[in-house]
Amino acid sequence: MRLDRFLSNLPALNRQAGRLALTSGRVKVDGQVVNAAQFEVNQFSRIELDNQLLQAGKAARYFMLHKPVGVVSATQHEEHRTVLDLLDEPDKTELHLAGRLDLNTSGLLIITNDGLWSRRLTEPRSRLGKVYRVHTEQPIEPHYAAVFAQGLYFAYEDLTTLPAELAILDSHSALLTLHEGRYHQVKRMFGHFQNKVIGLHRLSMGGIHLDPSLAPGQYRALTAEEIASC
Ligand code: URA
Repeated sequence: MRLDRFLSNLPALNRQAGRLALTSGRVKVDGQVVNAAQFEVNQFSRIELDNQLLQAGKAARYFMLHKPVGVVSATQHEEHRTVLDLLDEPDKTELHLAGRLDLNTSGLLIITNDGLWSRRLTEPRSRLGKVYRVHTEQPIEPHYAAVFAQGLYFAYEDLTTLPAELAILDSHSALLTLHEGRYHQVKRMFGHFQNKVIGLHRLSMGGIHLDPSLAPGQYRALTAEEIASC
């Protein structure tokens, strides 16, 4: 929200008093004096007025998890263990998943409490590449690549998928780069050729690559470079 709105929501300040505090340089955000009424603040901002703390600002938290097969990408589930069960962190209810993986898909899953950041990562219009390693039941034929590059029509959503890149590794495995995340997208794309996906693993999302030192079920905090890369 805008900083002037944040200030005028305080019981002790009305709109005019909030604006005056701003223009007279009495408001600091993250330690810096801010005069601009339209300056954006959020739950992570530390906000002070006359050096008195108004909001401490929560710590933004970002993790990468190596999701194992058989663990559900949800925060709660009646039947299966969830990815949040794998995290040994306080206040887990504040965390959410930046994109999901199917129960039988493994690989990179990102978990955070920063909704704005995770939206950028997952919105189709941000078009970040997500790389999957795919194993199939039938041989993968070279002509799939042109079909995936052109886009496939998904009748249920009434849309054509964005161009995707296929790099064939061997007869039954390939790397597929998607720039969006539709429901069961990889399986449906190979399903177009009646070729069942029997193994699916996400290697990267944008500039964030699954750390090879993480065994299935392990996780770590993202580095500042990884956070800034998306
Ligand atoms: N596409 C799928 O079909 N499943 C996933 O888990 C991710 C992408």
